[in-house]
Amino acid sequence: MTDSTETTAAPLTHAGRRAPEPLDPRTAEVFHASVSDPLARFTGLLELARANPHTREPTAMSLSTVDADGQPSSRIVLLKQLDARGFVFFTNLHSRKGRAIAANSRVALLFHWQALEVQVRIEGPAVLVQDAEADDYFAHRPRQSQLGAWASEQSEELASREELIARFKKLDEKFANQPVARPPHWSGFYVAPRTIEFWRNQESRLHERERYSRADERTPWAHALLNP
Ligand SMILES: Cc1cc2nc3c(=O)[nH]c(=O)nc-3n(C[C@H](O)[C@H](O)[C@H](O)COP(=O)(O)O)c2cc1C
Repeated sequence: MTDSTETTAAPLTHAGRRAPEPLDPRTAEVFHASVSDPLARFTGLLELARANPHTREPTAMSLSTVDADGQPSSRIVLLKQLDARGFVFFTNLHSRKGRAIAANSRVALLFHWQALEVQVRIEGPAVLVQDAEADDYFAHRPRQSQLGAWASEQSEELASREELIARFKKLDEKFANQPVARPPHWSGFYVAPRTIEFWRNQESRLHERERYSRADERTPWAHALLNP
């Protein structure tokens, strides 16, 4: 029997890995553009990632929350809008993340665009969007996704996939020949950035790190370089 403290796994190495995709040559220029405005700087990098054929989900971001017991958890969500308020995503308010945010609105977002070798970290409070905004976004989703939002009791235990599919079919019949209304427990949040940190891979581990911070949206951004 293996001692539980012993590890049988081989250490992770680069052996046998596929060669990485070539890096986007425009990264350095875009990374150093719009330095006075971190949101514009972010947008430039997002557009570059979007244009890169090796980036499948440029708007995918890790969302980390901390629940009422202080337990952190992370998951991927999609950035659906970026404006002066901040970074908008949509989700089920009854989900694990929804409950965590209700207890503690302080969250962190993380983007990693491999083809650019760039990471962006964002921290700030998550604020519920207005109902009208959630209605508008929901109305533009494909019908199947709208029904899925009703069918899925996101993060709850599920007895079987059949149960979920049966629920979906029932809802399909219920909403036949009529628009699917937004579930009241399905909405969006914007993350109002209080810190935004840009990281870019450099040789000898002398990576570039730049942090912007501000106490609230009326305060100008403070900018600092950080040790890698
Ligand atoms: C690429 C990708 C995109 C996703 N986008 C969303 C999203 O926009 N909103 C969402 O609620 N879940 C999204 N998910 C699912 C979440 O990662 C997660 O499984 C789900 O929201 C439940 O999380 P929770 O139990 O922590 O609340 C996405 C997952 C992946 C892999």
